[in-house]
Amino acid sequence: MKALILSGGKGTRLRPLTYTGAKQLVPVANKPILWYGLEDIIGAGITEIGIIISPETGEEVKAKTGNGEKFGVNITYILQEKPAGLAHAVKVAQPFLGDDSFIMYLGDNIIQSELQTFLETFKKQDLDALIMLRKVSNPSAFGVAKVDENGQVLQLIEKPKNPPSNLALVGIYFFSKTIHEAIDNIQPSARGELEITDAIQKLLDWEKPVKACTLEGWWLDTGKKDDLLEANRIILDTQLSPSVKGEVDEKSQIIGRVQIGTGTKVVNSSIRGPVIIGENCYLENCFIGPYTSIADEVTLIEGDLEHSVVLKGAKISGIHQRIVDSVIGQRAQLGVANMRPKALRFMIGDDCQVELS
Ligand code: TTP
Repeated sequence: MKALILSGGKGTRLRPLTYTGAKQLVPVANKPILWYGLEDIIGAGITEIGIIISPETGEEVKAKTGNGEKFGVNITYILQEKPAGLAHAVKVAQPFLGDDSFIMYLGDNIIQSELQTFLETFKKQDLDALIMLRKVSNPSAFGVAKVDENGQVLQLIEKPKNPPSNLALVGIYFFSKTIHEAIDNIQPSARGELEITDAIQKLLDWEKPVKACTLEGWWLDTGKKDDLLEANRIILDTQLSPSVKGEVDEKSQIIGRVQIGTGTKVVNSSIRGPVIIGENCYLENCFIGPYTSIADEVTLIEGDLEHSVVLKGAKISGIHQRIVDSVIGQRAQLGVANMRPKALRFMIGDDCQVELS
């Protein structure tokens, strides 16, 4: 059993961040989104892992994640020249996958459940595909499945106008080698992509065993800002263990679960958890409210921030209005001249400079 993580794609929905970086490396609770999937896969006992990368962001993904040594697994990087669809990514990975069964994991998805029980179902029932479904309120935005009462998949449709159910395909799939034959027998869709839903539909047409499991825990597709913030909220809520390694002066107040990295200095500030602050940051005269993640080397002076994600090297100073529901890109600089709006909401890309005046 191998695994294939898809970390290519265009990432248009997370622009401007994705003009300069891979969306799968955007941090959730200061850890790249991609690593959540990677750790899930490793937790299921898989050690041969392929990662699909794009020409634009592949080097960054490689540099950050490495050859797998730090995770105790082997990682092979597979270049997909163009984001020509999920099934196209599998096609490109065929030499790596060979005749092995594999888990396919979209690199911008995070799920609560562990993969182990799904993997057992896939193996025990000798399936050609096991897909995961979750009830959603807006099925038209997803690949949707029609399923009978025994979990047998009847039909799959990509982003249907009239959805046959409210069961969306979660970005995690289990496949046998038969999927390669199915992919060889499909054509690009109207949007010009080789769709994995079409390949699975082909398996259904051939009456191959394809089953679905319904996911009960949360599932987040972090491809958009609000989903990213929601993932950050849930992970901080459920997984953050408090520890203060940096320096906090006596005028500062730390309340609730807060993690502060080494080399970080907190001066005359209030931090109300759950909050994670990385290494070598400087905070002075700040209020940092719940569900905020601050990456390494961030400077915050006179800032008031809540339910937000701040990326590495960003600088925020002199903003007295509360910044909420915001994502601030790497090295972005945010300052204020004079103004008092009620609240500020941002999606600020890497290297931006913003001044409110
Ligand atoms: P999507 O989020 O469906 O596509 P995208 O990354 O192009 O994003 P957007 O819709 O915002 O433009 O992709 C799901 C995951 O699969 C994501 O991690 C990127 C990856 N992917 C590939 O690796 N190759 C591809 O050809 C496609 C379409 C996606």
